[in-house]
Parts: sequence; C-alpha cells; structure tokens
Amino acid sequence: MTERLSHSVADTEQIAAEIAQTLRGGECIALHGDLGAGKTQFVRGLVKALGGDRAAVSSPTFVLLHVYKTSTLTVYHLDAYRVHGGEDFEQIGFDELLEQGGVVVVEWASRVQRLIPRGHLEVRITTTGENDRTIAIGRSA
Ligand SMILES: Nc1ncnc2c1ncn2[C@@H]1O[C@H](COP(=O)(O)OP(=O)(O)OP(=O)(O)O)[C@@H](O)[C@H]1O
Ligand SMILES: [Mg+2]
Repeated sequence: MTERLSHSVADTEQIAAEIAQTLRGGECIALHGDLGAGKTQFVRGLVKALGGDRAAVSSPTFVLLHVYKTSTLTVYHLDAYRVHGGEDFEQIGFDELLEQGGVVVVEWASRVQRLIPRGHLEVRITTTGENDRTIAIGRSA
C-alpha cells in the first residue's frame, strides 16, 4: 500500500498519470472516497496520461458507463453511486467489459464489491482539507 499526498487537482492528476504508466490493459481500478473526494478528477488524469481527452471525462452517475478511447487503451468509466446490489452493472455487461483488454475504472466500487475481480487496483481518496487529499494505492488480494 502506497500513500500519496495531493494538494491540488493537478497533484491528483499527476498521481493518476503515474498509475496510468503502469497499465497494460485488462486492469480494473476500484475508486473509493466520499462525494467530492476527487475520484472523477483522478480518472481525468488517467485518461489524459493515456493520450485521451480529459475534458470528455465526467461522472457517469446516471448512465453508469462512459467509454473513452485513448491513443493507447480504451477506458471504461463506471459509477456505482446509485447502484444497489450490482444488478444494474450486470445488466450493462460489467463482466464482459473486464474482458475487453481495456482499463475498467469504477467510482463507488464498494457498492458493487462482489463484482470487482480479485487482484484489482484499489485507490482510496480521503479529503483532509479544502484542497488536500490522501491517496492510498494498493493491489487487492
Ligand atoms: N487535491 C484535490 N484533488 C482532487 N480534487 C480536488 C482537490 N482539491 C480540490 N478538489 C476539488 O474537489 C472536487 C472533486 O470532484 P470530483 O468530481 O472529482 O469528486 P468525486 O469523488 O468524483 O465525487 P462524486 O462521488 O460526486 O462523483 C472538484 O471540485 C475539485 O476541484
Ligand atoms: Mg465522480
């Protein structure tokens, strides 16, 4: 488990960019953190670092899924905030998304914990001040 400190949106995007460099495709990233913690900002940094359009990134709270094609990998961005039990995720074919060779990123992943594959990357963002965040990064068992 690595713990990083962020003091700005740019810091958070930079930390996400460092993780982006390690992605080869087929990964699942579970994002945790309260409302406004910076989960979507983190995805912006990730998409930008992969060569995609950061401005296209927003929380897929109502549609559940946004897909961003980048110059390297396709990013499947999901938000489980309004999901209870995981049936909605199953309906949009979450299991199939995991097999596309892209990167699957899930905000509010704890809401669909049973669907998140073993060995996924955990990113936990904690708000510690107006612009301060602690970002804990680790691989799940
Ligand atoms: N260090 C920081 N890292 C990330 N965001 C920050 C930071 N400091 C301030 N912010 C602000 O916090 C907010 C984070 O919003 P964001 O939409 O990324 O949160 P979220 O975790 O996705 O929330 P939600 O659960 O509602 O989807 C933005 O308004 C951003 O400007
Ligand atoms: Mg969000």
